[in-house]
Amino acid sequence: GNEKVYDLTISRGSNAPDGFKRDMFLINGQFPGPLIECNKGDTLVINVKNELDEDTTIHSHGMFQRGTPWYDGVPGQTQCGIPSKGSLTYKFKVEQSGTYWYHSHSRTQYIEGIIGPLIVHEPNDPYKNECDEEIIVILQDWYHTDAKTLLATFLSPASQGNEPSPDNGLINGHNSFNCSSASEGSDCVSNAPLAQFKFVKGKKYKLRIINASAFSAFIFSIDGHSMDVVEVEGMITRRHTVHRLPINIAQRYSVIVTADQPIDQYWMRAEMETSCFAVVSDDLNPLITAVVTYDTYNGSTDQGPSSKAWSDDVENCVDLKASDLKPYKNQKIPNPSKNFTIVINFQPDENDVVLGYINNSTYKIDTNDPTLIKVYNGVTQFSPNLNVFTVEKDEIVDLILLNQDAGEHPFHLHGHVFWCLGSGEDGTQPDYNSLNTKDPIQRDTATIPAGGWAILRFVSNNPGVWGFHCHIEWHVASGLVAQFVTQPDQIKRLNPPDEWKALCPNSFNSSNSSN
Ligand code: C2O
Repeated sequence: GNEKVYDLTISRGSNAPDGFKRDMFLINGQFPGPLIECNKGDTLVINVKNELDEDTTIHSHGMFQRGTPWYDGVPGQTQCGIPSKGSLTYKFKVEQSGTYWYHSHSRTQYIEGIIGPLIVHEPNDPYKNECDEEIIVILQDWYHTDAKTLLATFLSPASQGNEPSPDNGLINGHNSFNCSSASEGSDCVSNAPLAQFKFVKGKKYKLRIINASAFSAFIFSIDGHSMDVVEVEGMITRRHTVHRLPINIAQRYSVIVTADQPIDQYWMRAEMETSCFAVVSDDLNPLITAVVTYDTYNGSTDQGPSSKAWSDDVENCVDLKASDLKPYKNQKIPNPSKNFTIVINFQPDENDVVLGYINNSTYKIDTNDPTLIKVYNGVTQFSPNLNVFTVEKDEIVDLILLNQDAGEHPFHLHGHVFWCLGSGEDGTQPDYNSLNTKDPIQRDTATIPAGGWAILRFVSNNPGVWGFHCHIEWHVASGLVAQFVTQPDQIKRLNPPDEWKALCPNSFNSSNSSN
């Protein structure tokens, strides 16, 4: 493989993605961040320079980081933050292909702009001839108030655990906003330009759809055009045709769309699933749009498309049915050797702040002494609030998730993919008879239905410390986070780089690491 080098400089700046000007984060002066892409087998070198006055990290979401667990980018788990004016080079071999993204894993930074797409091309893609061109579509929710203020309110008794509602949503960093609902004195321009996509009649496009939201799931569609799902988070699937595609936070899909409709303009729609919000902001228009225009269209563009939305019913707030998706290649699914029951709920703490709990323990981050360094230093017992699960080599682990909360939670496992064996919306007892152990899909982020359950199976074959958390960014802050310490003995045989150790000068005890 080749080495592909990217420089990411993270700074603050003012920008108006939807016409509402605000202070936010930029990467290389732009938003969303630049495309990182490579081929399977390449090595990615990502030089991160921190121009902020606070620390930061970059996590490559979905990358296995086999042999380089220190580059997973999670403060408190795999590294100390890159300090203000500091830098870190993340360098890792890419053994997988598909649609990924990168984001800050520090506090609420990704909500305010530290995100970008990461695409790994598959040399042996069976759908190669079905795609003339690739188009990246990043969906996300968007807030007009700074995240620190929102977080302070959310983590106070007043919020009663209700997450802040987004003010808007964006497609590839664009949307418009009706400024009459913006607060007095704000710098806001109505009718900001929407994202524009060009189709050439007869061509086939692979849309790589990424939900980079903090809080919102979407239902994605393009008027008049059906979509063939061919990839779920790195797993190539058999073709599955949909009109409307539900996509939860941090999930990704590739779909093939043929430009086979009359020469015209069409709406691309990302409908926010506000029915799963605790509160909905008055100024929010939950229908986020962009425009798809055939290249030879020469009609008026003033009014926007007159196309009609698909009307298919899809279930709200749950994943695209796992049973509709089949892996392209058959797999053999191993039997479990171990299981963990993981109960999710929310409770008020002693100060009446509603926090997220995993098996009755809310996660408290230990920023200055990340778990991976603890493991190097020989620690085997972890404080209960670190929510550590330890697994040894080549275990087949079933995660039995029981969601006692009234909201759904998109859980993400770092460093692995898991088989989605089954899930259900009612009751706290999994229906073991309904599990699919024959041809389930694998992914890295799956929704645990509200008041329901899910069973996810993964193979412990990657030494490291791997986050397992709800990807609702507000819930990361309120403690709905766990971590797997996998193969601690093997971890200690891997040699971490000096630049990484130097980020935690006080905690890395080199005399304790074996080599
Ligand atoms: Cu997208 Cu813990 O990450």
